[in-house]
Amino acid sequence: MSTASCRHDIIPRPRYFKRQPGYFTLNQNTEIVADKVSEGTAKYLSDCLAPAMGFRLPVRTNKNTRNSNVIILGILPGRKELGGEGYELSARPQSVRIAAGEPAGLFYACQTLRQMLPAEIISPARAESPPWRLPCSEIRDFPRFPWRGLMLDTARYFHPKDFILRYIDLMAFYKMNRLHLHLNDTQSWTLEIKKYPRLTDPATRWPPGEKERGSYSRSDMREIVKYAAARQVMVIPEFDLPGHARAILNAYPELICSHIPRPAGSHDYGEMCAGKEEVYDFIGNVLDEITAVFDSPYIHIGGDEYGGWDWEKCPDCQRRITTENLEAEDTPELRKLFKNCQGSPRKYLLYRYMMRRVARMVTDRKRIPVLWDDLAWRGKFPEKSVIMQWHCRGAYDWMQNADTPENPAREAAEAGRAAVVAPHSHYYFDYLHGGALLKRLYEFDPVPRGLAANRHSFILGPHACSWERRPADVDWKVFPRLLILAEKGWAAKSLSCWDDFRQRLEKHLPRLQRLGVRCAKPLAWPRKELFFQWKAPAGAGWQTSWLINEIIAGNGEFKAEVSITRVKGEKIAAGLELAVDGHEFAPCQAAGNHEHKRAKYLFRFRIKEYKPESLYRLRLSLHGNEKSPLCGKVLVRKSNKQNA
Ligand code: ACM
Ligand code: ZN
Repeated sequence: MSTASCRHDIIPRPRYFKRQPGYFTLNQNTEIVADKVSEGTAKYLSDCLAPAMGFRLPVRTNKNTRNSNVIILGILPGRKELGGEGYELSARPQSVRIAAGEPAGLFYACQTLRQMLPAEIISPARAESPPWRLPCSEIRDFPRFPWRGLMLDTARYFHPKDFILRYIDLMAFYKMNRLHLHLNDTQSWTLEIKKYPRLTDPATRWPPGEKERGSYSRSDMREIVKYAAARQVMVIPEFDLPGHARAILNAYPELICSHIPRPAGSHDYGEMCAGKEEVYDFIGNVLDEITAVFDSPYIHIGGDEYGGWDWEKCPDCQRRITTENLEAEDTPELRKLFKNCQGSPRKYLLYRYMMRRVARMVTDRKRIPVLWDDLAWRGKFPEKSVIMQWHCRGAYDWMQNADTPENPAREAAEAGRAAVVAPHSHYYFDYLHGGALLKRLYEFDPVPRGLAANRHSFILGPHACSWERRPADVDWKVFPRLLILAEKGWAAKSLSCWDDFRQRLEKHLPRLQRLGVRCAKPLAWPRKELFFQWKAPAGAGWQTSWLINEIIAGNGEFKAEVSITRVKGEKIAAGLELAVDGHEFAPCQAAGNHEHKRAKYLFRFRIKEYKPESLYRLRLSLHGNEKSPLCGKVLVRKSNKQNA
C-alpha cells in the first residue's frame, strides 16, 4: 500500500480509503436505520451530530425503509477479517452504509464519519453551517493493536469526574480504548473504599491541607466506567504498591514496617511492610472493592520504584523471608541480576514474593494483573500477568542503580507475557515536546526492535502517560501527541508516513480547537534559536540540562551563549556539555577564559552524525557560587558556518 499523501484528514489513518465522486448530504429528512444490536450506536451518532446541525436524525429499527437519504448501520457476523473493532463504510450520494462484525466496529465507523464531515460539526450549539456533506468514499479499516491507552495521574493532582468524562470522549474520537487511572501515590488515594474510610480522608493527604487533592465516590467511578464502556473505552484502575504508597500509609500506619527507629521529625515515613499478614489482608479487601467498581479484566498493581530499605531491618519482613523459604531462590543467576542493586539482595527476593502474591490475589479474583516492568528483568514474571513497559533499554533504572540492559517489553514478549508499551523516552507526555520531538515520537514503532515476528502478538499496543500534571495543564502536554499515539496504535505500519501525518494534523487542528482542546500549534521546526532561563541556588556546585532537539535537523555547528546575572563579585566557573541519548556528556568547546567573573560565556558544539530518534541534551554546570543564588539565560543557535 502506498504511503503517499492521502486525500482526507482522518486521524488515525484508515487502512483502506478510496475517494469516489460526489457527496452524501445530511439534511432534515435523513434517517439512520439500524438493526437491534446497532441501535445504541445509531443513537450515539445522532446525539453527536444534532447540536451542530440543529436537527436530530431519527433512528429507525424497521427493515422496510427507503434506500435513499439514509445512513444504514448493521452487524455482519461473518466478517471475521474485520476483527472485533474493524468496519466498512461506504458513502455514496444516496446513502451511507456501515457494517462491522461487532458493535465496537460500528462505533469507530461513526468516529470516522464525524471526522469526514466539516469541522463545524463539532459544536455544542447550532453552527453557521456549510452543507453537512460527506465526501463519497469506500473505507475498510481495522486496528493494528488491540490496546491504545492513556494513563491519567489522578493521585498527584485530582482530576474531577467531568474532566475524566471529557477525556473519554476525546479518546473515543481518536479510536483509543484503554484509560488507565493512577489512583494512588505519595500525595493521595482517590477512590472511596468502604472498609477503609481513612484512605480518602483529606487529613491523610500529602502535604497536609493540600487543596488540589480529592477522591471519587464509588458511584462517581461507576458512572465513569459506564460512560467509558458506552464509548468502547475500558477503565483500568491502578493500585500502586508497595512503593508510591505514602497516602495509604498515612491513613493506616499499622501497615508500615514496625520497630524501625526514626529520628523525631524525620520525613522518612516508613515503607509498606511485606512481612505482616495484615498488609495482605488490607490488599485483598481493597481489591475486593476495586473489582466491585471496575469491570475491566485488568487490575494494575504497580510494583514500580520501591525502596525496601526498612525491609532489611524489619523483623516481620525478615521472618517472611524465612517462613516462605525465599532464600532457596537466591541462586548465583539471581545474584547476577541484582549485582548492582542498592541494599541487600534479600529485599529483592521479598519484593518478588510480594508482587507474585498480590498478582495471584488478582488472578484469584478472575482478573489479569498488570505490573510496571520493574520486576520484568529481574528473572521472573508473575503468572498470567501483563507487563507495562516504562523503562527503555539504556535508560537509568533507579532500583537497580544501572542502565536498563534490555527492552523490558521485548523481554516480556519473549517470555510469553503480554506487554503494553509506555517507554518514558517517548510515551511520557508530561515531558517536553515540540516539532522535532513530534517527528521522533511518530517514527517510534511500538514493537521492540529485534522481536521475532512470531512474538509480535504479545505486544498489546502503545500507552501514553500523563504524570504529575494539574488538570488545567493536561491538554497542553497531551496534545497533539495523543493523536500520534492514536495513529501508531491503530494505523497499518505500512501506511506510517510522517509527512502525510503532518499534513493531516495541520488540517485537523480546527477540530481540536472546536473540541475545546488547548493544543499548542506544533512549532515550526527546526527553530532558529532556543532560549532557556535558569536559577541556581547558592552552593558549591549546580547543574541543569535542557533538550535541544528543536534546533537540530541535521549535522552542523552550533553555539551556545550562557549569560549569568547576580554574580556579586564571585568567581564562577561555567561548563557546558552535550549528551546524545543518555548520560555520556561531552564538554562543549569553550571560547575564552571561563574562570572569571564574567557576564557571558560562549560555547560551541558540533553534531556529526545526526539521528532524528536521538535525544540531544545540553548540561550546564556552575562551580564557585557559594554565597548567593544565581540566575541567567542560555541562547542556543545554529552557527553560520557551513555544515560539518
Ligand atoms: C513510573 O514512572 N514510575 C512508572
Ligand atoms: Zn516489614
